[in-house]
Amino acid sequence: MTNNKKLIEWVKSMEQMCKPDRVHWCDGSQEENDRLIKICVENGSFKPIPKRPNSYWVISDPKDVARVEDRTFICSEKEEDAGPTNNWMDPKEMKKIMSGLYDGCMRGRTMYVIPYSMGPLGSKIAQIGIELTDSIYVVVNMRIMTRMGQKVLDVLGEDGNFVPCLHSVGAPLIDGKKDVPWPCNTNKYITHFPEERTIWSFGSGYGGNALLGKKCFSLRIASVMARDEGWLAEHMLILGITPPGGQKRYIAAAFPSACGKTNLAMMTPSLPGWKVECVGDDIAWMKFGDDGRLYAINPEYGFFGVAPGTSMETNANAMLSMTENSIFTNVAFTDDSDVWWEGMTDEIPSHLTDWNGNDWTPDCGRKAAHPNARFTAPARQCPVIDPAWEDPKGVPISAFLFGGRRSTVVPLVYEAYNWNHGVYMGSAAASETTAAAAGAVGKLRHDPFAMLPFCGYHMGDYFAHWIQIGRMAFPDRLPKIFYVNWFRKDENGKFIWPGYGDNIRALKWIIERVEETGKYKETPIGRLPTHDAIDTSGLGLSPEICHKLCEVNKDDWLKEVEEMRDYYKIFGVKLPRQLSEELDKIEERLKK
Ligand code: OXD
Ligand code: MN
Repeated sequence: MTNNKKLIEWVKSMEQMCKPDRVHWCDGSQEENDRLIKICVENGSFKPIPKRPNSYWVISDPKDVARVEDRTFICSEKEEDAGPTNNWMDPKEMKKIMSGLYDGCMRGRTMYVIPYSMGPLGSKIAQIGIELTDSIYVVVNMRIMTRMGQKVLDVLGEDGNFVPCLHSVGAPLIDGKKDVPWPCNTNKYITHFPEERTIWSFGSGYGGNALLGKKCFSLRIASVMARDEGWLAEHMLILGITPPGGQKRYIAAAFPSACGKTNLAMMTPSLPGWKVECVGDDIAWMKFGDDGRLYAINPEYGFFGVAPGTSMETNANAMLSMTENSIFTNVAFTDDSDVWWEGMTDEIPSHLTDWNGNDWTPDCGRKAAHPNARFTAPARQCPVIDPAWEDPKGVPISAFLFGGRRSTVVPLVYEAYNWNHGVYMGSAAASETTAAAAGAVGKLRHDPFAMLPFCGYHMGDYFAHWIQIGRMAFPDRLPKIFYVNWFRKDENGKFIWPGYGDNIRALKWIIERVEETGKYKETPIGRLPTHDAIDTSGLGLSPEICHKLCEVNKDDWLKEVEEMRDYYKIFGVKLPRQLSEELDKIEERLKK
């Protein structure tokens, strides 16, 4: 219950527009959750997974399986504020279109009011959102992904501020229409009103389109708040790393969707004595502390990870996080009542029910799980969750990592010469595309700071904001910046770096660089490890491969520079001069 007038009035006006049969204010209790899940089990949209207590298997409409970037809009007052990397529509026009779609869209359904906190309740870095939705799938996922319920209303109080988030699957139950297991609409809109700090989403029940605390609030709207208020809202994992007998440090790393953030965040290091602990696997909010350092919180409360490829070998801690209280979406179901996906076990089951609910056998020529199938699991269940993951003041960040999937050109790891050079590196991030977003897979696309689909304003202004953050602190208090690439391949298309737990070898050098002990050589693109600086003991890598991992091929890099110069043109006058200067410097060094 609440006596927050603004909230009560907003819910009332949205109710008048969407016309649900009922309104339910979520208290976040176990009893409420059980009741909602019972409805879904009875109507057949959730299936219990007997091997995993309190866990459920859900399959979506086959046309609603990923974020829809082409239907995602930043509706700023001025088009130039959305910039060249976002879709834009005039906010009044968008509201008109969407009010038409929302009119009566919840008929026959219940409108659930979900009060949620992004970040530990009451933390100075946390923010409150209220999501209205007509999807129980959204309610129960939001309960895993955020701190939600009455306790949030208590913190909000009578006059607290919140981000209003409206969501509908867009499938009213009228004229005796029977419900389907995964209601959605072919017409989808995922829209953001940055000046109003409001989110309206219509037509999709899936992940980042529908769990509005995640991409819509924590990144698109929060990036605008962060720009206005002098902090950072980033698409970054946060991990704690402790060397044998050494000091613990925290690192935040930005990689595009489905590039292994979850795996890195909770990796099992292959080097003896090293410990990695997870604060978060997808999003970091950072503010300056009194000591002038950047402190990060994970605004989320759970993991919404890509299932295919996750196994006890690749990410045991993720597997152990999802043994109970979890939801599995678009994976396959085994004949002995468990879930399965490609890459989960060496032995492939001889028969499954696939993510479309059809019989599946290994020779049928189809994938059993959708490549973007997901698990939703409570972060507290992660065996290596960091003791400080709920610390309201956050954890101090010592290094930022940028990266992506690059089968060629980009070395295993290198360090920026200074903050602005690091901002250049973030702006130059690019990656071969994955199944996390609808569209072609395997094409190289620029993904600056891994924020391409998530920045809520003009990307040129976002680069300027990063430069400005560098001016707000003493250089020795700022995190050092690195670029990493786990995905280099040989001529035969085979990965040359083992990745996963062996990525600790690159992290070790990064920690040594933070402590100013790691050996490096200066190259045109940044500081690279010397040939003996990365511990490759026991990997059996040939000297040629070791050389390739840390090579800077001048011709390739001159092409990258040319390509970057071309890419930068899209930002026009909004491109900070510091970034073109960094590009000039790299080119000069390459031509020397
Ligand atoms: C995600 C994504 O779901 O980045 O985290 O797509
Ligand atoms: Mn993500």
